[in-house]
Order: sequence, then structure tokens, then C-alpha cells
Amino acid sequence: MDVAARTLELTKSYPVGPGRVIAVKDVTLQIHRGQLTALLGPSGSGKTPLVNCLAGLEAVTSGSAWIGDNQVTAMTEKQLTRLRRNHVGIAFRFPTIVPTLSVRQNLQLPMSIAGRPVDGEWFDKLAKAAELTSLLDSPAGELPASLQQRVSVARAVLPRPDLVILDEPTGNLASQPGDGLLEFIRTCVTSFKRTVLIATHDPTVAARADRVLLLYNGQLAGDISRPTRQGLSKKLNELHETA
Ligand SMILES: Nc1ncnc2c1ncn2[C@@H]1O[C@H](COP(=O)(O)OP(=O)(O)OP(=O)(O)O)[C@@H](O)[C@H]1O
Ligand SMILES: [Mg+2]
Repeated sequence: MDVAARTLELTKSYPVGPGRVIAVKDVTLQIHRGQLTALLGPSGSGKTPLVNCLAGLEAVTSGSAWIGDNQVTAMTEKQLTRLRRNHVGIAFRFPTIVPTLSVRQNLQLPMSIAGRPVDGEWFDKLAKAAELTSLLDSPAGELPASLQQRVSVARAVLPRPDLVILDEPTGNLASQPGDGLLEFIRTCVTSFKRTVLIATHDPTVAARADRVLLLYNGQLAGDISRPTRQGLSKKLNELHETA
């Protein structure tokens, strides 16, 4: 399998009072290129610290992370800025759009800042798959939250990074808009050959992935191909019972 990103014995801890809390402990994983991988774990299991370290948004405490051939954990701030512009795309639970700019401007913003030309044909294809074509000239701030989230996710995909990281992208959405977003994410992987890592606490969301990495108490607790919702729920319950 071609590896799009990986970590080696990644540990992340935070100072709390006089001690430290370990959020991610010794995690070694690979993300396969061209797949939708879910990082599934209950709230507090360390998903956000782990994906933030992988994306170079937070520094690791020990261990290493790579996006493609780039060792994230050995980079200067300047190199990290370049990495985030060209190699990794990120969207979070809450959409991060510029409300006064149009949908088109929002989608193209990271590439404009990086001085990279936008491939018009690819842009149109992506906008269509996100069902944003008729909204491209509207101010993004006027869209409902679910469509703003589509803009956030499509914007992360547009530069064709080695890895797209989505941290609880459906966490703020009702089930139907969440479903539409997951369909769009699936199209990005299956039709557009993108590599996506989606962090979620929801087995129903994770069951849509090609592969699920289970995170529990900051540690990797499972690696499941062709997951089912029932299988994932059972596995989570077992982890709760043995904890
Ligand atoms: N900025 C921080 N400062 C201190 N501790 C932190 C910080 N971020 C995370 N932690 C610690 O790491 C643990 C795991 O992180 P977090 O709760 O973000 O995991 P998560 O799996 O992303 O959860 P959620 O599903 O709620 O987003 C937390 O319980 C907390 O103890
Ligand atoms: Mg989180």
C-alpha cells in the first residue's frame, strides 16, 4: 500500500497543574493513499491532538509524523506554513469561512495566498460535487451552516494535498446535512482519488470509511478494514468494559 502519511511512536502531552496529561501515547500508524480512513474514538480519546500533530498545527512531545515525504516533526515554522499550503488540507467541526467573501473566493483563498494557479476544470468538478455551483457568487456568510461546512471541506480538497484531515466535520450538523457532506467526501475519495482522514466519535460516520483506526485513551486500539456500524459499536463497548 502506498502511504500518504504516517506517525512513529507519536506522543503528545500537555502541562496540567504541576503534572502533565498524556493525550496521545506512542501512536504508530499509516494512512493509505486513495482511501477514506476514519480515526474513531470517544470524546477525550486524543483524536484532535493526534491530527493536529500530524498536520503540524501542534508540536509533538516525542515521536515523529510525516505527510508524504515531509517529516512534519522536523520542520521550521516557515516549512510548516509551506506544508499546510501545499501538502495537507484541514477542516474542523465549525466552518471557517470569510463571511463577506463569495463562495468562490473562499474556496480559492488558500491557493491565492500561496500564489498557486487554480485549475478551472478541477475547480468546476469539485464545486459541482459539493453542490455549490449555483452559489459560487453568493457571500459565504449567507449560506446555512451545512453549506458553509461544504465550502470548508471543498477548500481543503481543492489544492489536491497529500492528505485531507477533517476533524469532526459532521459534529455540528443534523443527520441529513451530515449525510450529504459524507456523500461529498466519498466522491472526493472514490471519483477524485483524494486521501482523507476523518476524526469522529460517531460509529455511523466511521462505518462509511474504507478503514477505521480506533483510538482509546490516546492509544491505538484497533485497525479495521471494511467496517460496519454494528461491528464498530460492539468494539467501542468492549473497550469501555475492559477500561
Ligand atoms: N490544549 C490542551 N491543553 C491541555 N490538555 C489538552 C489540550 N488538548 C487536549 N488536551 C487533553 O487531551 C485529551 C484528549 O483531547 P481531546 O479531548 O481533544 O480528544 P478528542 O478525541 O478530540 O475529543 P472530542 O471528541 O471531544 O473532540 C483531553 O481530555 C485533555 O486532557
Ligand atoms: Mg476533538
